[in-house]
Amino acid sequence: MNARPPKLYPNLAEWRAARSRDFMGQSIGFVPTMGALHAGHRALLERASAENDRVVLSIFVNPTQFNDPTDLAKYPRTLQEDLAVARGLVTDVIMPQDTEVYPHGYRLRVSENQFSRELEGAHRPGHFDGVLTVVLKLIQLVQPHRAYFGEKDRQQLQLVQLMAQDLFLPTEIVSCPTVRADDGLALSSRNQRLTADSRARAAHFPRILREASDAASATRELGFAGFDVDYVEDRDGVRLGAVRLDGIRLIDNVRL
Ligand code: PAF
Repeated sequence: MNARPPKLYPNLAEWRAARSRDFMGQSIGFVPTMGALHAGHRALLERASAENDRVVLSIFVNPTQFNDPTDLAKYPRTLQEDLAVARGLVTDVIMPQDTEVYPHGYRLRVSENQFSRELEGAHRPGHFDGVLTVVLKLIQLVQPHRAYFGEKDRQQLQLVQLMAQDLFLPTEIVSCPTVRADDGLALSSRNQRLTADSRARAAHFPRILREASDAASATRELGFAGFDVDYVEDRDGVRLGAVRLDGIRLIDNVRL
């Protein structure tokens, strides 16, 4: 474990200079995030730290992946707490500005036109264009050997893997298991926005996904339990779902 505090790069010019100067001959693990770090992110950082000489964390609330402006405005920004979660695991933190990541606005983008339109993409138009575009930009900026993504966002993980293959990226995309609270709820930055009552009820979401006999029964049971269901679908031995509870959107997936 690395005991030194990480080096912070609040702008890309400094980061790019350091990247070409200080990283020779070292393996680099990269964990891209939008901040509001929790134990799920910490598990990604632990894995990256165990497998690489240096661990780069990015904290960037990517505007192009939010199809709902309220969701973007309400996204938690908790830098000091994030640095505490990352302590001892991260060597470098990049925190670029919107105008640095999108110097010409959103004129250029990566667009997958099949799987990205299904499941999450059907309910959040343009979401995965924003995700893929920013992940490609960040990978270009960091040039990591490995980049770490959580399985909770399974569709995101699969699309990033597809992009890495299709665009011949030299970075290995490493998939990491979902981290759950004791009651089974998958950890997510959005959980912080649940009231105490909704947080207690939210644990029914993964339980019903796991226990229902098929996707249609899961949809019905989630409805009875007070969730607004966006979708539940079984694909390749995995049940994926997205629900809203008091306006907060939760996604999850479980192996069948
Ligand atoms: O999973 C996330 O937090 C984001 O979608 C990511 C990969 C950091 C891109 O903004």
